[in-house]
Amino acid sequence: MQSYGIKSLLEKGKDLVLQEVVVCGWVKSFRSNRFIALNDGSTIHNIQIVVNFEDFDENLIKQISTAASLRVKGEVVESQGAGQEIEIIAKEIKVLGVAPSEQVQETILQPKQHSLETLREQAHLRFRTNLFGAIMRVRNSLMFAVHKYFNENGFVYVNTPIITGSDAEGAGEMFHVTNFNLENLPRTTDGKVDYAQDFFGKATNLTVSGQLEGEAAAMGLGKVYTFGPTFRAENSNTTRHLAEFWMIEPEIAFMHLDQCMDLSEDFLKYVITYAMENCKDDLAFLADRYTKEQQTKPAAERSDLGLMERLDYVLNNKFVRLSYTEALEILKESKPNKKGKFKYPIDGWGTDLQSEHERYLVEKHFKTPVILFDYPQEIKAFYMRLNDDQKTVRAMDVLFPGIGEIIGGSEREDRLDVLDQRMAQFGIDSNELGWYRDTRRFGTVPHSGFGLGLERLVLFVTGMGNIRDVIPFPRTPGSAEF
Ligand code: 4AD
Ligand code: MG
Repeated sequence: MQSYGIKSLLEKGKDLVLQEVVVCGWVKSFRSNRFIALNDGSTIHNIQIVVNFEDFDENLIKQISTAASLRVKGEVVESQGAGQEIEIIAKEIKVLGVAPSEQVQETILQPKQHSLETLREQAHLRFRTNLFGAIMRVRNSLMFAVHKYFNENGFVYVNTPIITGSDAEGAGEMFHVTNFNLENLPRTTDGKVDYAQDFFGKATNLTVSGQLEGEAAAMGLGKVYTFGPTFRAENSNTTRHLAEFWMIEPEIAFMHLDQCMDLSEDFLKYVITYAMENCKDDLAFLADRYTKEQQTKPAAERSDLGLMERLDYVLNNKFVRLSYTEALEILKESKPNKKGKFKYPIDGWGTDLQSEHERYLVEKHFKTPVILFDYPQEIKAFYMRLNDDQKTVRAMDVLFPGIGEIIGGSEREDRLDVLDQRMAQFGIDSNELGWYRDTRRFGTVPHSGFGLGLERLVLFVTGMGNIRDVIPFPRTPGSAEF
């Protein structure tokens, strides 16, 4: 007797007719005491189990209810009903775990429409829903595609530390790591916390980026990437920010920014294509949800493209590339700016762009993904290569419709003297980053890299609107449940 996952069972379809099989799963619904829709998470589709209740004990039938788990042995037959090719006539049913109906009713397992907020509150149960199942399978597919892409292109996957002493981005948005007794902190004679007595003999934090260590690796391995969790204690309660998210950071020796832009575009198109080819059913379901959701929005916010058209659109168009300075001119002259519609009006050169500006460029002006480059040096990190104008750095941001910034990257400052100048300017202790300086002291080379926030990519591909809905257990300000 062969056991099957529901996905492979449905794929084999009619080839299995008249065979005895075993399947396990959770009950999605049990109609007329006769038809069980069973799902095991391998696919969005269910297998229908037909129960001839004369063949079974009444008490067993009573235990079969929504959310209960079952092991079913039975015979595959062609389905009489519409909607499925095959079904299973149950011969033996074992209830592995009951799910009392009155208790199920208090949860999101009850089969009816639940709000995304309610699903979030029961994040431990939402893996069982069609929606979250689809999102998680798409997420998985994207992660796999990331590894596949880099592997096929000669990159080495390196693991950078999660606990670190450095603040790569220099934004000071770090979670401290300590094993001090916080009620009784050791102090130096001048009253400061004495980190020399802490576990690592110095102050440490959770990493905000693996880039600096990634650069060190690229200075020997050539082409590397990291893919790990990153942590930011930034107090932004938005639909695009998490305190814990997963970042993919390639770093490439001998690469200049233009080639790095090519890489980012090729890479994004590859992983999106992979998910589209390998998650057809899940994306069809998500596209349907997306369309319905768009209809509830005011006309001005509605996307005129469906989810799949939106993905195709990104794949089939070359990303527009323009400098920060050019973008600023467009924004300055834009209707929303002139009419005072931006929350942050565009004034002088040098201010950082807000998400509303990024989205205007992508969604209204160019109507295609945009790569902005050469940002003012004051608003970007210390490690970015200073341009000859002494005003801008070789930074790039890839901006996507509905998302805004999906990738941030740069060519790195490879000249030791300029790096030292930049570190001094940003108040970075060069003793702390002596190891980083070493990469410029011994055989420095031009190099570039970027960071992609996995969850922002999953948001884009699934058409979801809130980043909390594309990671299993979101961590946001004021919330670390589960
Ligand atoms: O632009 P960021 O801060 O760049 C870096 O960290 C560089 N060290 C990357 C590099 O060059 N190796 O972050 C990169 C990307 C952003 O574009 C965004 O997609 C994502 O990480 N990101 C976040 N995603 C979710 N929640 C947050 N709080 C995020 N902050 C950044
Ligand atoms: Mg950025």
